[in-house]
Amino acid sequence: MKALILSGGKGTRLRPLTYTGAKQLVPVANKPILWYGIEAIVAAGITDIGIIISPETGKEVQAKTGTGDRFGAKITYILQEQPAGLAHAVKVAQSFLENSPFLMYLGDNLIQQGDLTYFLKEFIQENHDALLLLRPVLNPSAFGVAKLDEKGRVLQLVEKPLVPPSNLALVGVYFFSPIIHDAIACIQPSARGELEITDAIQCLIDQQKQVAACKLEGWWLDTGKKDDLLEANRIILDTQLTPCILGQVDDQTQVIGRVQIGSGSKLINCTVRGPVIIGEDCHLENCFIGPYSSIADRVTLIDTDLEHSVILQDAKVADIHQRIVDSVIGQRATLTVAPRRPKALRFMIGDDCQIQIM
Ligand code: TTP
Repeated sequence: MKALILSGGKGTRLRPLTYTGAKQLVPVANKPILWYGIEAIVAAGITDIGIIISPETGKEVQAKTGTGDRFGAKITYILQEQPAGLAHAVKVAQSFLENSPFLMYLGDNLIQQGDLTYFLKEFIQENHDALLLLRPVLNPSAFGVAKLDEKGRVLQLVEKPLVPPSNLALVGVYFFSPIIHDAIACIQPSARGELEITDAIQCLIDQQKQVAACKLEGWWLDTGKKDDLLEANRIILDTQLTPCILGQVDDQTQVIGRVQIGSGSKLINCTVRGPVIIGEDCHLENCFIGPYSSIADRVTLIDTDLEHSVILQDAKVADIHQRIVDSVIGQRATLTVAPRRPKALRFMIGDDCQIQIM
């Protein structure tokens, strides 16, 4: 059994972060999203892992993630020249996958840990040609949706339907036997110009192959958008954060609840109310850091009040006299206000940034 993680793509929904970096490397509780997937796959016992990368962000993904040693896995990187669809990615990976059954995992998805082992067992024992994971959602039109018969067999898959046949969305985790390659060879690009994995699976269904589905009971998040990213951050901090203070905390600082502070970080006159994670070599002065905040390495925060936010490496925020909430601040970004109340606001704002001043 092998695994194929898709970590290419365009990442348009997470712009501007994805202009300069891979969306799969955006941290959730200070760990790249992609790594949660690798860890879940290794925990299920699969250690031969291929990762699809794009020409734009592939080097960064490779440099950060490495050969797989840190996960106890062997990672092979596979370049997909164009983001031409999920089925196209499988096609590009054929020489890595060979004749092996495989688990396909979308690199920007997060599912509750431990779940994969059960599904893998089901896939192997029942000898399915494909096993899909489904989860009820409130807005099925935003996803690939499955229609099942009364026995729970998959009848039809529709990509982002206007009139959804059910509320069961395709979670970004699939198990395939090598027969999927024949199905992919038969399909044509869709109206949006991509080779869709849903079309290839539909082809298997039409040929009466054994396509089964399981409902995912635990949580699942597609972190492709800001609010989903913040929600993933909230859940991971809630369920997986181990308190540990390695950095320096002065006498005026109050640390309440579950908080992790990395080595080399300094907190002066701050209040930190967990769950919160603060990376290494950060400088925080006169700040309130509220629940569900993740602050990456080398961040500087001065006279800042924030909660339920994700701050990426090397960002600096100072003198904002209103609480910052539900925010994602990119790597090296600077957010400051002039010391005296400004008569005018001066900005240097990149494409697609969203700034709201009230
Ligand atoms: P999507 O989120 O469906 O696509 P995208 O990354 O292009 O994002 P957006 O819609 O915001 O523009 O992709 C799901 C995962 O699969 C994601 O990790 C990227 C990856 N992917 C590939 O590796 N190759 C591809 O051709 C496509 C379409 C996606």
